[in-house]
Amino acid sequence: MKVLLVKDYDEMSEKGYELIKEIIETKEEPVISMTTGGTPRGIFKLLVEDIHNGLDISHTTIMNLDEYIGPRNAVYTVRTFMYKNLYDLINVQPKNIFLIDGATEDIKKETNRYKEILQQYGRDIQILGLGTNGHIGANEPGTPFDSTMFLAEHTEATIQSTMKEYNIERNDTPTQMLTLGFTEILEAKKVVLLVSGKHKAKAVKDLLEGEITPDCPASVLRDCENAIVIIDEEAASLLEKTNYL
Ligand code: F6R
Repeated sequence: MKVLLVKDYDEMSEKGYELIKEIIETKEEPVISMTTGGTPRGIFKLLVEDIHNGLDISHTTIMNLDEYIGPRNAVYTVRTFMYKNLYDLINVQPKNIFLIDGATEDIKKETNRYKEILQQYGRDIQILGLGTNGHIGANEPGTPFDSTMFLAEHTEATIQSTMKEYNIERNDTPTQMLTLGFTEILEAKKVVLLVSGKHKAKAVKDLLEGEITPDCPASVLRDCENAIVIIDEEAASLLEKTNYL
């Protein structure tokens, strides 16, 4: 895993976006898998801006790594986020848009459908955010490192973060997510974890200076050659070692 230290949220977004843009511009059939939440908002802004300035995404496939269980158009769903922050803002759409259906009544069938899409569309890049408890996707602490796409239960910390991010009450907040497991996450050609803010500093410390253990899900990336973690100064503020500087 490579570690890239940057100044702040804006620089993290720029560096993350550069990696995506390069793939869109150089690959014949690029496949980009995104995450949602506070972390990638800056990246989506840059992408929308560039599309308005002529960046062609008509040959690109865009997908996501997870989806909350709940009504499709709920304020917090990955689907709502993707339309609000990308698809509704652009005139030329990607070649394919793939989303997990979190309103499905048949989790097994939906899991199999999405797994087939993953098989068919090898991802050039998987973008990830980091939970305050170290989760990636919805692989919460304790999830075995050999997990494959599954229905995950959120921890209380994650539920609290979702409430804050989407400004919703506890009763309206989803508690489950259909998520890619570590296995599928690591199958992407490039895995990019973006981290910004003081509230992520403890998780970053565990990720880089703690043990590689399911207790810190993101630590699975440490042994992964095609992983890059981009961390801003606030998120890196608890690090002791200087060997990534
Ligand atoms: C959401 C997802 C989550 C978030 C993580 C960080 O689709 O996969 O793992 O990336 O919870 O969330 P933010 O960016 O809101 O701090």
